Amino acid sequence: MDKFRISGGRPLKGRVSISGAKNSALPCMAAAVLTPETVILHNLPYVRDIITQRRLLEDIGATVLTPELRTHKITAAHIELFEAPYELVKTMRASVLALGPLLARFGKAKVSLPGGCAIGTRPIDLHLAGFEKLGAEVKLEAGNVVARAPRDGRLRGGEIHFEKITVTGTENLMMAATLAWGRTTLYNAAREPEITDLAELLNKMGARIRGAGTSTIQVDGVEALGGAEHTIIPDRIEAGTFIIAAAMTAGELEIKDCRPEHSAALIAKLREAGVELQELNPTTLHVGGAMKLTASDVTTQPHPDFPTDMQAQYMALMTQAQGRSQIVETVFENRFMHTSELQRMGARIHIDGSRATVDGVTRLTGAPVIASDLRASASLVLAGLVAEGETVVDRVYHIDRGYEKIEAKLRAVGADIERVRESVTAPPGATAEADAAVV
Ligand code: UD1
Repeated sequence: MDKFRISGGRPLKGRVSISGAKNSALPCMAAAVLTPETVILHNLPYVRDIITQRRLLEDIGATVLTPELRTHKITAAHIELFEAPYELVKTMRASVLALGPLLARFGKAKVSLPGGCAIGTRPIDLHLAGFEKLGAEVKLEAGNVVARAPRDGRLRGGEIHFEKITVTGTENLMMAATLAWGRTTLYNAAREPEITDLAELLNKMGARIRGAGTSTIQVDGVEALGGAEHTIIPDRIEAGTFIIAAAMTAGELEIKDCRPEHSAALIAKLREAGVELQELNPTTLHVGGAMKLTASDVTTQPHPDFPTDMQAQYMALMTQAQGRSQIVETVFENRFMHTSELQRMGARIHIDGSRATVDGVTRLTGAPVIASDLRASASLVLAGLVAEGETVVDRVYHIDRGYEKIEAKLRAVGADIERVRESVTAPPGATAEADAAVV
């Protein structure tokens, strides 16, 4: 398992280019299953989850060509398997995104359930309830969810009211509805930019979707979808992580190829906390100047509010801000796994249920720490960049799932960080276990 060795204390300076959004690329890749024609996707990030999703597509019979590193040409003309197997679902929960497209086009799909609790409390219960609303029969068989469309093999349009906002749930149902008979309306839908990006691709493929990006999405089913070409939006979480890296190290970064309008809540919060941010043009942000970081409270919420995927990194920032801040996590339970590691580096953080209280400013000191999930690992890297001495972040396979060559990008702007390669790689199950709380 690879590690990062970081020597803290260097301000970051220079330019960094943001990769494509993993969370948009994953559903867009799954969408290619909706058509026998070729879907060409550009600007895919070169991260582990994309490789896993590609493997899933190839396992079920799709052909994936890579004419360039960041371009995939996906053709799902001959699908032979209609399932996302346990082996893949346990390493990446987003594999459940195969369900909607398989069910819509072939009338059947099977997906293994990750973990071991009752179906009612599973984090895909809302996806399944939605499929049932579209006329599917959903059963649990030997740890798998097996879904079937009505006898004629085609889903029926329906009204789906999501009890709770779910990002991949909205994506799964939106994809399923594209080939259903009649109209589907999704209420209380997620509004993330990744939903809008997926809808844009689906509409290019011939789908009839309106309202993506709002909480009511209407899909008029069509008989078939065709090929399309699409460029994935930039990763707003990677952009946010680099903004915080610049702010924490009192550095100066130009963040290129991003979309500031996708990060409005984060940018507003960071400005409130004293981060100097300027929008140089619609795709470039400048961070830097005389920054005096001050504590500012935050509560995570679905988009357009402050993203849960930035909570861990924001907590690292708050250890360097003057005063006491409260960070409330409302989207996921158990998403404070980075806290104990930050405490080992000297951070003063108190957890009470879903609320973390951070007291700053703390002089962090380097320590060996263990990454527990994707965004938690990012917060440990950020802490390492300002800590005195050496920080060794273990289990960086978590960060490799979603950040493209983070150590190379950080090194290019002045960080002292290196990857220490170890010959033993993580067993596939190891990632899933530790990632159980979040996708
Ligand atoms: C997606 C993102 C993830 C991000 C999260 C919230 C992808 C691949 N992943 O995950 O990075 O952290 O959105 O912004 O896009 N829930 C249920 N039942 C369901 C579905 C969800 O109870 O059927 C709950 C979850 O446990 C969680 C909340 O709803 O508490 C939100 O989860 P959801 O939006 O579905 O997250 P993901 O789509 O899995």
